[in-house]
Amino acid sequence: MEIILDLTSQHARFLFIFSWLFPKLAFRGFRIFFKQLAFITFVTEPIIYVMKLEELRQNYTKGRLLIAEAPQDPFILFKKWFDDAMQAGTIEPNAMVVNTCDKEGRLSSRVVLLKEFSNKGFVFYTNYNSVKGHQISEHPEVSLLFWWQLTERQVEIHGSVYKISAAESDHYFDSRPFESRIGAIVSDQSKVIEGDNYMDEKFQNMLEQSDTNSIKRPDHWGGFLVDPDQFRFWQGRPGRLHDRLRYKQDGRGGWMIERLAP
Ligand SMILES: Cc1cc2nc3c(=O)[nH]c(=O)nc-3n(C[C@H](O)[C@H](O)[C@H](O)COP(=O)(O)O)c2cc1C
Repeated sequence: MEIILDLTSQHARFLFIFSWLFPKLAFRGFRIFFKQLAFITFVTEPIIYVMKLEELRQNYTKGRLLIAEAPQDPFILFKKWFDDAMQAGTIEPNAMVVNTCDKEGRLSSRVVLLKEFSNKGFVFYTNYNSVKGHQISEHPEVSLLFWWQLTERQVEIHGSVYKISAAESDHYFDSRPFESRIGAIVSDQSKVIEGDNYMDEKFQNMLEQSDTNSIKRPDHWGGFLVDPDQFRFWQGRPGRLHDRLRYKQDGRGGWMIERLAP
């Protein structure tokens, strides 16, 4: 690939000098050159933009995750790791990837903010008519993924997902800033829209017509609760010997802890 591109640029340089020396003959040379360039662009375009990332490598050294020191309750470990991520200065430690799947098994992922967690589960808010909302209604199971770079830790959580009660969603919606509430109302999340300024205009119109008290949560916007049946904790270590612990529900109300190979 690189050789072909190199040859092309050499050819171009040659033609440039040649056209100065023999302007009449140069026309034929240019025709060949452009044909060649068109062919190479056509054949190689998908692979011209190669970016080699082989040297991009991090050695993880921040700590260990030992089975002997792991709490029996994964929520306690999650809370500790979350606190550590915050204290380390992570920006938006509550940003997580939510992975969903439709009934045909087609996957999709996006970042969403975790807004609450307790031993009942993990809560996030969204538009129920969005892609994720539809996928969850077809296949009410998700995985959540946190990557906390500053502490070199990853947590993956699998579980069933449920809509929280309307009263709970109302409570959270009413706590949001005025603009965020308007934003949630005017956005038909995941739908195709017309033009770059469509949302701004819709937002501005609604902003002008509304006052704080008249803004109510629309039915299609609210919270989901993820009730985990599995956690996988990952702590980066030198030499790719990362520590991994999996917590699985043991069917008796407790959790079974297993070490996984990195
Ligand atoms: C940092 C960050 C936080 C986000 N938080 C939320 C959120 O809390 N709720 C939400 O619906 N979308 C959130 N989004 C937007 C989603 O990533 C996504 O674009 C949107 O929910 C539509 O996803 P879908 O079409 O797959 O349903 C966030 C995006 C980023 C980058």
